[in-house]
Amino acid sequence: MKNILVVGGAGYIGSHVVKMLKAQGYNPVVYDNLSKGHPQAVQDVILEEGDLGDKTRLAEVFQKHHIEAVMHFAAFIEVGESVKEPSKYYHNNVSSVLNLLDCMVEHQIFYFVFSSTAATFGEPIHPKISETHPQNPINPYGNTKLMVEKILEDFDHAYGLKSVALRYFNASGADESGQIGESHTPETHLIPLVLQAAAGKRESIKVFGNDYPTPDGTCVRDYVHVNDLARAHILALEKMEKENKSLRYNLGSGSGFSVAELINQAKAITGIDFKVEYQARRAGDPAVLVADPAKAQAELGWTPQYDLKQIIATAWNWEKNRRF
Ligand code: UFG
Repeated sequence: MKNILVVGGAGYIGSHVVKMLKAQGYNPVVYDNLSKGHPQAVQDVILEEGDLGDKTRLAEVFQKHHIEAVMHFAAFIEVGESVKEPSKYYHNNVSSVLNLLDCMVEHQIFYFVFSSTAATFGEPIHPKISETHPQNPINPYGNTKLMVEKILEDFDHAYGLKSVALRYFNASGADESGQIGESHTPETHLIPLVLQAAAGKRESIKVFGNDYPTPDGTCVRDYVHVNDLARAHILALEKMEKENKSLRYNLGSGSGFSVAELINQAKAITGIDFKVEYQARRAGDPAVLVADPAKAQAELGWTPQYDLKQIIATAWNWEKNRRF
């Protein structure tokens, strides 16, 4: 399976997967409407501009490039915005995926890799979240991703469309080449915001809450490097194809770091003592989100290779020299 359509391949995670697919001998073709993605993130790869709502355009691209599998990264990702504007999220993250899946079935393309999220689990009831943890999202963003997971189960049953759903924990870091990295507008993620404070592009980093039931009172998250995630996509794609079955994996390191710990590491790595301001909690943030990556380790042979220091160092390299 060589010709892979990467929907949202001009975005943060998509562009890292595209680069790795190419390096491993695949022919990725990017399909992106560039509403959030960056054309500069697509290097030496065909970029087909188009929208998921446009079935004619999708069909044209499927045929032109003899697409054999689809990876889907194009989604809205902000939890807070999803609470305020759920309609936008259900249209973009659910309806348009349905369109894509229908189009795949019409063109007899039966392999799909889906970007899911730890947000499908909601408030954790176990310290580490495994694939058997109940899925009870607490915001529309998590709902949309879980809905697509359910749609995928039904599409497998009815049409034999096989899928991998990868539930990312906190995707972070940047490619070591410095050519691609994280660039969201607006930026809401902790690591880029911390590094922008270090770079003097922001006055301070605002910490959302220090009264959580965690050792230092700030939220604990499981940070996983974007290239570790990219590697997991290719391993999972290959396993799905080889075994012709649908798969689900939680992708994190299994280690949690608090916001305060991360800020201290960032100060040490950058050598800059930037300003930190404590504020009230942000709505919808669980205290602790840490993956149990045992299944991905056992079945894919996947173990993250970047630790938090390397994640921050690669993100810092990107922040200092960002191209877009
Ligand atoms: N945080 C701050 N200050 C900021 C930004 C974030 O203190 O300026 C805190 C948040 O409160 C949270 C932690 O830093 O405790 C991480 O926040 P991020 O926004 O970087 O990431 P989230 O854990 O909220 O969300 C990420 C993805 C989501 C996904 C979720 C799943 O961005 O898309 O992981 O776990 F749904």
